[in-house]
Amino acid sequence: MSKKKSRSRKKKRSSSFSTGFVAMFFLIIGAVLAVLAFKFFENGNDISTDSSEAMNQSKYVESSVADDESSTSSRKEETSFESSTTSGDSSEDVSEESSENASEDVPQGKYSSVAWYKAENEERYKAYGDKKPELSPEKVVTYVNIGLDGPYYTNVYPAKKEDGIFILVNKYSYVERGFEPANLVELDASCKVSGKSVKLVKEAADAFKRLSADALELEYHIIGMSGYRTYAYQENLYNNYLKNDTKENVDTYSARPGYSEHHTGLALDVQTDSVSFSNFGQTKEYEWLLDNAHKYGFVIHYTEENQWITGYMPEEWHIRYLGVEAATYIYDNNLSVDEYLTMYGANGLQAAG
Ligand code: DAL
Ligand code: ZN
Repeated sequence: MSKKKSRSRKKKRSSSFSTGFVAMFFLIIGAVLAVLAFKFFENGNDISTDSSEAMNQSKYVESSVADDESSTSSRKEETSFESSTTSGDSSEDVSEESSENASEDVPQGKYSSVAWYKAENEERYKAYGDKKPELSPEKVVTYVNIGLDGPYYTNVYPAKKEDGIFILVNKYSYVERGFEPANLVELDASCKVSGKSVKLVKEAADAFKRLSADALELEYHIIGMSGYRTYAYQENLYNNYLKNDTKENVDTYSARPGYSEHHTGLALDVQTDSVSFSNFGQTKEYEWLLDNAHKYGFVIHYTEENQWITGYMPEEWHIRYLGVEAATYIYDNNLSVDEYLTMYGANGLQAAG
């Protein structure tokens, strides 16, 4: 009973308190409305227009922030989903997105801005670049132009005879039967194996004569033993090797007819007066040649390092003439003849800028 009383007293007190509170509330609302109405009539529609524009703007900002956040969070979800599951659908979504991002990152003209780019090779650049993402666009274009995206002796093309001392003959680039370079001369007797016919293009023969003479002053004996070769000579040589060895092996040390650098009259196999070409790599003459051949316009073409490009086992005795400027550039930049000629070719270094 007493409990009931006390409850009703409390109720009475709270009901009179609520009535007062509601009255106060309406009074305040009324005052606010009165102030607003006054302002409205004082300034006309301007305030409402400004505020609605401001409202629209803040709505736009809010919604774009919300879009960003939602897209960020959905990306996060996809990423965490991907890392916690191998679900095909999810990873497809993510890889699609990342490939979109990747293509956004790829600058336009990635390959076409390379000076030695060839439009007809565009698809091959893309395929090779995808296969070897560690390579720079310059390297991709160079290697594809050489032909290295395909096996040796595929996608072959005729060598550019008009390139003169910058002609490139390798396992992708050939000369026809009957090709003979202009200005072939016999090497001076002082710098070749006695009694042998060893021919080179005159410019290369003169340079080798100087090289051999300068080396001799230091008591290094470097002489030529095999220079220009006809197609028929190489054919005979290659076929003779095939009698005792597999084609796969022969291809690592002998060029197929038409594909030998010796056809150009710019390549020379050297030896000393007492050591044959096959052991030339063990001589002090070879050590000297390594550091000095470029000063006379020659490069040791087939090295261990560029074997993957040339397709030949190292040949310490095989030198190639391209003139002092090109040979020095190759030496300084640790390039192969194939790379240099593919990048700059007959246009020389100026083309590279
Ligand atoms: N021995 C070199 C590769 C040639 O046959 O031309
Ligand atoms: Zn050779």
